[in-house]
Amino acid sequence: MRHFLNTSDLTRIEIGTVLALAKQRPEALGWPLADYGVAMIFEKPSNRTRQSMEMAVVQLGGHPVFTRGEEVGFDVRESVEDITQILAGYHAILAARVLDHAVLERMAATDSVPVVNMLSDYSHPLQSLADVLTMREEFGSLKGRTVAWVGDYNNVARSLSEACALEGAHVRLGCPLGYGASDDELSRIRSLGAATVEQTTTPHDAVRDAHAVHTDVFVSMGQEAETERRMRDFAGFQVDESMMAAADPEAIFMHCLPAHRGVEVAAEVIDGPASRVVRQAHNRMHAARGLLAFLCEVNDITKGDTQ
Ligand code: CP
Ligand code: NVA
Repeated sequence: MRHFLNTSDLTRIEIGTVLALAKQRPEALGWPLADYGVAMIFEKPSNRTRQSMEMAVVQLGGHPVFTRGEEVGFDVRESVEDITQILAGYHAILAARVLDHAVLERMAATDSVPVVNMLSDYSHPLQSLADVLTMREEFGSLKGRTVAWVGDYNNVARSLSEACALEGAHVRLGCPLGYGASDDELSRIRSLGAATVEQTTTPHDAVRDAHAVHTDVFVSMGQEAETERRMRDFAGFQVDESMMAAADPEAIFMHCLPAHRGVEVAAEVIDGPASRVVRQAHNRMHAARGLLAFLCEVNDITKGDTQ
């Protein structure tokens, strides 16, 4: 059974397949989820992920069922394993946004239903598919392009780094001391096929001549208690016009959103001509549809036209 817990669960070729499916018109995909449900459980808030996943399920002929994490109560009301195995009887796919990545791994370990990560503390692979789709639309191919990340090496950064490595890009991380990737993590990203992977604590060096500059919030969901310390530690890491000026003259700016103008990004940048954040967010739906269609195919979920 194939799950999607991390971007690196896909091979380089499979990312190409998913993104090709994402570019197809929904009706060309043959309604593989017709008469099937997709359970979507959220332990954290969401705008883009919930809306784009629900619409992707509908576009594949299926029915999304949204549930808040408190309602199912992982390991509170009943075990993660019991919840997963019961939902497997109602749904073709189970998607979840969780506080603890290990919950997704336990769901997948039941081997009862394909599991999709809609964001965990560790990774955000659906986001990375939309990011690559957006950059491919911009550059054609990411091979040999330089993708810079400025800020926290967080869930979004990890999945983006994996995706860019699989695409053969140069990955540049500009993170404050203590907020970067470990040496083991850098080696792991290198081993996925990146042209190069470099890390610096000087954000201007990370973005130098980069083709795409990405950032994210300095305080992720669940880290609110660290806000004061993080605001101090991330001083100087705002992507502003001077930082964008160090990048390639045609560089684009990207952010998974939600964004905080004046904190991790200057309003002039996110609302300026280099920004692709709206397209990036819209691509979440197309990428989700491509991924779900791919999972239907590889897991032999084939109701739709084929029956
Ligand atoms: N980028 C993203 O995942 O946004 P939401 O938290 O609104 O889903
Ligand atoms: N790193 C952020 C991403 C939100 C989409 C968080 O986890 O809150």
